[in-house]
Amino acid sequence: MKEMQVNTGNGGFVRTHYCGEVTREDCGKKITLMGWVQRRRDLGGLIFVDMRDRSGICQVVFNPETFPQAHAVGHNLKSEYCVAVEGELSERPKEMRNSAMQTGEVELIAQRVAILNEAKTPPFVVEDGQEVSEALKLKYRYLDLRRPSLQANLMLRHKAAMAARTYLDSAGFIEVETPVLTKSTPEGARDYLVPSRVSPGRFYALPQSPQLFKQLLMVSGFDRYYQIVKCFRDEDLRADRQPEFTQIDMETSFMSMDAILATMEGLIAAIFEKTIGVSLPTPLPRMSYDEAMASYGVDRPDTRFALKLHDISAHFKGTDFKVIASILEGGGIVKALAIPGAADLSRKDIDDLGAYAADFGAKGILWARLNEDGWQSSLAKHLKPEQRAAIERELDAKKGDVIIFIADKPAVANASLGALRLHIAQKRGLIPERTFSALWVTDFPLLEWSEEDKRLVSVHHPFTAPRDEDIALLATSPEKVKAQAYDMVINGSEVGGGSVRIHRREVQQRVFKAIGLSDDEARAKFGFLLDALEYGAPPHGGIAFGFDRLVMLLAGAPSLRDVIAFPKTAKASCTMTDAPSEVDERQLEALGLKVIK
Ligand code: AMO
Repeated sequence: MKEMQVNTGNGGFVRTHYCGEVTREDCGKKITLMGWVQRRRDLGGLIFVDMRDRSGICQVVFNPETFPQAHAVGHNLKSEYCVAVEGELSERPKEMRNSAMQTGEVELIAQRVAILNEAKTPPFVVEDGQEVSEALKLKYRYLDLRRPSLQANLMLRHKAAMAARTYLDSAGFIEVETPVLTKSTPEGARDYLVPSRVSPGRFYALPQSPQLFKQLLMVSGFDRYYQIVKCFRDEDLRADRQPEFTQIDMETSFMSMDAILATMEGLIAAIFEKTIGVSLPTPLPRMSYDEAMASYGVDRPDTRFALKLHDISAHFKGTDFKVIASILEGGGIVKALAIPGAADLSRKDIDDLGAYAADFGAKGILWARLNEDGWQSSLAKHLKPEQRAAIERELDAKKGDVIIFIADKPAVANASLGALRLHIAQKRGLIPERTFSALWVTDFPLLEWSEEDKRLVSVHHPFTAPRDEDIALLATSPEKVKAQAYDMVINGSEVGGGSVRIHRREVQQRVFKAIGLSDDEARAKFGFLLDALEYGAPPHGGIAFGFDRLVMLLAGAPSLRDVIAFPKTAKASCTMTDAPSEVDERQLEALGLKVIK
């Protein structure tokens, strides 16, 4: 630490160093540390205190013989007291050195100490690796955030944001803020609404993304926009979903899809390089949506390992196996994957796999054990030897492998076998640690059938451009139209998604028509954008990356909560501030609202 600051509330002490940054080179110097008591060990004579700040820990020694006054204060120190210690940094005696600790070769011999603030006994020990309930940790988040691993995650997050800003600035992007009190945006989740006091009965929606505004900025000629921005979506939460989350949001004009992808993957590569020193090999591979679904069962394939899915329906053509025959007749498929060297899998293990697949809608699984003397499987008698051999070839299955089959409607077979693929890989240690496998998934369908709405809906949002060659299909077979859309997927997580946009009114109208949105409805929802598109809107396109998800991957954290300073619980609440909370009758009155319980 270079600067010497003037302190007021610091008891006349002036900090000279951060705890974790003192080294052998500083030995012999008089230094002052400020931080928190992590641990105190009283050996009767000497007292040892581990002192912590955001940089790490330094051991402080209180000696009753040499500095009795400091020792007396040291005696009173308790966990999480905030203290200032002045003294001389010394090398530790050889047998006391701790190579596992950043500052394990040195210690501070306390000469003068001030308790800057006492602390109540904390509700849990502020150290990594403690068994503490999630609820308690979130209630006292400000204490939990003192933990080294959470501090490291937030510092990594800061570095990632800095790397993004530096890259985007040098690539000519400018950061523009867009409104938070706005109108519903087209991302398709439920909105958080904010009532207006001055216009009773009217509501703002918090933005699910800055989608419409960033397109307007292109119409205004800003050409390359970005923003590190909060987005709000009222949706069911998972480990990788928070109700308020952050995007690195971007939009560009006059760039081809290839140029956009090159710029965006450059950004992600720069972030990986600058934060964790990993270089992602660019250009990133691209995989079509159809291939992702065929080989991985999902549109965000985890490509760190193989274990691919295969559609082997053809081998069951005319089968005498009634269940499969009727599934195939009903438009279903048979998908399979081979688990290599799975001789150790017991019947119970296989039953467990069936139970796991059931959570994703599969009615059951079939299996075959490839023994020395052939297939051990209820399917064996329904398949001729050459059919079995053909399936083995297709799955690249060998003796000792186990093949898992799921026969169902395509969506269920894909979702359940895709989920099983991940589950098997995790259980059998097939996923290499600390590797990153990034790719683009492209050629998404533009529209998909919604059972809920009983109509076609946009897969991304209604401003996504169809492939030029598919525009004519909008009127005849809209479900076949592919979009100029792309998702970036890393280790099976969708870290970003975007598209080339429609910039011509006539194409926009055809897409609205395909999703059953009348001119009036479109006008009521997005009239301002449609108007703007008529004033010389440039060809444009962009993307948004889930910043929290990216940092979660960089940090190797299991949940978004580990990389967000003040996250929400699974019920979208904050147990620390108690939000959401009830409000005063008068506040409701002023807003013209009444709560019906
Ligand atoms: P999309 O809806 O795909 O695109 O969002 C972009 C990225 O944001 C992340 N994300 C989330 N992260 C945490 N919690 C959530 N609830 C959550 N929802 C989404 C994902 C996702 O890939 N306007 C478009 C982008 C565009 O077309 O330019 C959009 O928001 O990583």
